[in-house]
Parts: sequence; C-alpha cells; structure tokens
Amino acid sequence: MKKIVVMISGSGSNLEAIIKACNAKNINGEIVCVISNNPHAYGIERAKKYSIPTKIIDHKEFSKRDDFDNALEDILDYLDVDLIILAGFMRILGKNLTHKFYGKMINLHPSLLPLYPGLNTHAQALNNKDKYHGISIHFVTSKLDEGPLIAQGKILIKEDDDIEKLIARIHKVEHDLLPKVINELCLNNIYLNCESHKVMYSNILDSKMFVTYFNN
Ligand code: GRF
Repeated sequence: MKKIVVMISGSGSNLEAIIKACNAKNINGEIVCVISNNPHAYGIERAKKYSIPTKIIDHKEFSKRDDFDNALEDILDYLDVDLIILAGFMRILGKNLTHKFYGKMINLHPSLLPLYPGLNTHAQALNNKDKYHGISIHFVTSKLDEGPLIAQGKILIKEDDDIEKLIARIHKVEHDLLPKVINELCLNNIYLNCESHKVMYSNILDSKMFVTYFNN
C-alpha cells in the first residue's frame, strides 16, 4: 500500500473524500499524515475525526519561504511518502521542494487548465460566459498551477449557475475524480516520466489524457 500525505489549508472536503475512499478500499493506499499550513483549517478536525495524524506547519512562523519549504521537506522525508496530494493547499512551493518530489506530488485545481491558474477561477469562468468549467489534476512543478496534466473533470455551465452553485457542482466533480486518480497513481497505472515530462497511462486506462464529463 502506498503511503499518502494530504496537504490542506482550509475546509478539507476533498481530504474527507480521499479518507472515505481509502477506508472503503477504493484507494490502494493509506493516509499517513495530513499537513496543514493553517492552524485553523477545518480539515484538521476532519482528519482527527478519522484518527489520522495531523501536522501543522504554520507558514507565518517562518520569515523566509525557503525555511517553510525546508520544514516541510524534513517531515516528508521523515514520513518517507510515496504520494503527496495538494488538496486545497494554498501555498506556492519552491523549486527545491517541487524538484525533489517531482512525479510524487499532485495538485487539484478548480479550472480547466491552462485556463485560469491562480484564484477566483469560478468567477472568471462565469464572467467570461464560458461554456464549460471544471477541474484539473496535475503533477506539481514550481510554477503556479502548471505541470503535466493527469486528468480533468468537465461540466457544462448552466444558465442559472451562480458562484455558489458552480462551486458546489465543482466540488462534486473533485470529490469523485480526485480519489479515482489517486488510486490509479497508487496502482502505478498512471505515473510521470520525469525525463520526458510525459504522463504515462497503463493499457487498462483507455485515454492518454483523460477528460471526464460530469452531468451533475
Ligand atoms: C477545491 O475546490 C480545490 O480545487 C481548491 O480549493 C478547494 C479546496 O476545497 N484548490 P476543500 O478544502 O477540499 O473543501
């Protein structure tokens, strides 16, 4: 079983979806620790509810970004993890750390990348009257919301969608797709070729870069 760390900054609804999938054995892995940079993140309570070890590394306690990254690196090394999931983790990580864990660290982002890296993705999709919105799961590099794409979940924006409705619909997609992708990574059905930067899919997954349409 793969050793997984989930990193969060806030509510942790995706964390809970991952925990439930692990408990239901839909993910061939175990969450060995939840790390939060925010001591007040509600996700910490969610982790505790399921008796998962938590670690707070408060970025405000570090004067330099590198020092925060170093503290994080120490813990990840100590835990000897196979997979690091950034699920609503709102800090940018530096080159050293992202390089060291390249191919092992994935991020969840609420847009159809390369559209809308950064914040306020839902508002941008609505304001631009986009036809589609969605989520992306990608390997992490030091560039914000970039890095080889693994999977996307796509929804049609409905006429009566406002921000709240859209966020709720996007969350549903995230809670469904992220655990599935994590499981494929744990089974080595998906992995990154770190030299070519290509995401590799085993034969049993039928598409190269799979986009899933959701009808919620
Ligand atoms: C998710 O929508 C994720 O895509 C974004 O932040 C949100 C985190 O939600 N980066 P939660 O903390 O998992 O509930």
